Amino acid sequence: MTRTVDVVVIGAGVAGLSTALGLAATRDVLLLSAGDGSTPWAQGGVSAAYGEDDPLDHARDTDIAGAGFCDLRNVRALVEEGPQRLAELIAQGARFDRDDDGSLSRTLEGGHGRSRIVHAGGDATGAEVHRALRSALQLTGVQTMDGRTIGLIKSDSGRIVGVLVETGTEITRIDARAVVLATGGVGNAYLASTNPPTVRGDGIALALRAGASVVDMEFVQFHPTALFTGETGGQLPLVTEAVRGEGAVLRDMHGRRIMAGRHPRADLAPRDVVAREVEATMRRDGSDHVWLDATSIAPDVLRQRFPTVLASCARIGVDLLSEQIPVAPAEHFLCGGIRTDRDGATDVPGLYAVGEVAATGVHGANRLASNSLLEGLVFGRRVATALTLDLPATDHGHSHELALNHDREPERVRAILTKYAGIRRDGAGLNAAADELEPLGTGPLATVARSVIAAATTRQDSRGCHWRSDYPHSDERWDEHIVVRLDKDDRPTTRQLLHATTQ
Ligand code: SIN
Repeated sequence: MTRTVDVVVIGAGVAGLSTALGLAATRDVLLLSAGDGSTPWAQGGVSAAYGEDDPLDHARDTDIAGAGFCDLRNVRALVEEGPQRLAELIAQGARFDRDDDGSLSRTLEGGHGRSRIVHAGGDATGAEVHRALRSALQLTGVQTMDGRTIGLIKSDSGRIVGVLVETGTEITRIDARAVVLATGGVGNAYLASTNPPTVRGDGIALALRAGASVVDMEFVQFHPTALFTGETGGQLPLVTEAVRGEGAVLRDMHGRRIMAGRHPRADLAPRDVVAREVEATMRRDGSDHVWLDATSIAPDVLRQRFPTVLASCARIGVDLLSEQIPVAPAEHFLCGGIRTDRDGATDVPGLYAVGEVAATGVHGANRLASNSLLEGLVFGRRVATALTLDLPATDHGHSHELALNHDREPERVRAILTKYAGIRRDGAGLNAAADELEPLGTGPLATVARSVIAAATTRQDSRGCHWRSDYPHSDERWDEHIVVRLDKDDRPTTRQLLHATTQ
């Protein structure tokens, strides 16, 4: 079966929904998805500097959290366009929490210099953002289709002209003038992640197969506080950083505070710093978790602000109100991804990327808390605007299909990536990972894992969420981004690209 549309958007999280919504009035759009992505699971909120807050302060916090490795022009777009996108979302029906005087409630999270995180349903912000965008999209009549994208179609002139979608036993070909990947990160390439299992790096693998560049793949962010349920794999419940924003602290097995004296912002240090301290504490104590102590927070506040976390705790028989809860780091977010410009264009004509799967440089070496929903809203709109203004012409030439190969041994790939490319890495481990991945084929998970390993091996310094115990310091000789592409055998090759410091 074949269909034809103007634009295919792949992924129904905040970035994909925002893109489709922005295009609905001007283009014939098809929204393709295999699940709703990570958006409905996002807890903390949307960061937005408005009123007495200054977007430039937000930009500074973003770049500090990003270890000074952000693209500052794109960060400015993020922080300056963010409040407007938030206002539009509210106008579309999103219900954010409000204080008694009717103003938006704002909370604090790690790395932010002031309270600027707006939230919904206490800790169910992603679900509300998702609901509001979905409802708005339904009113537009945009076509949707459930299915996994298993390949891109490329014209002989080098342009992406469509996709192949698997729905049950059928494969459908969809021809389009532009394809937008909004498929999220690489969560399921690791054994344990806060992301749902459908988030597995397919977008990265599709782009690489199509000849696109990916960048900053070594910057995989681990959330310091996933609930330690005793499960060693799969999707772990998040314990939002906003719990620490309200006053909770991390403790080791002996009841000692982990973050005291480790960073001026202590438990609200940027996420990479906290995750590293938690990992080091667990290693030192030989434990598989640490404790999060929220007992100093009034029970009413906890009930009102964190119903999702309370329910997750209750499911494993712990009570957030009266006792410490067990937490451990888990894979959370890919700061790098498919290299794009500020309007989502990749280096392959006709192929665009947006949201977590894209690398615009706004996260640098470590994403600031609650900047990801914001990224989806801002850059989703930017891609939609770009494709409204200028949609590539139809390419009537010959084309060929670039279908993904199957992963023969996904569990093995996940185990290797988890073992060697977690919070702490070193050259010997990364080389071992490359060797162990070698016989595992060229399926999407293996491709993603090899890309992370290649980038992490190349970068011989530590910055942001890439921490190498054999190169424990940041070194200005590595003020370069690692760009990965596939060679003719579908193996990653890397090159270095100087970090631009232009504002
Ligand atoms: C959290 O609520 O801690 C996660 C928010 C985020 O990933 O930005």
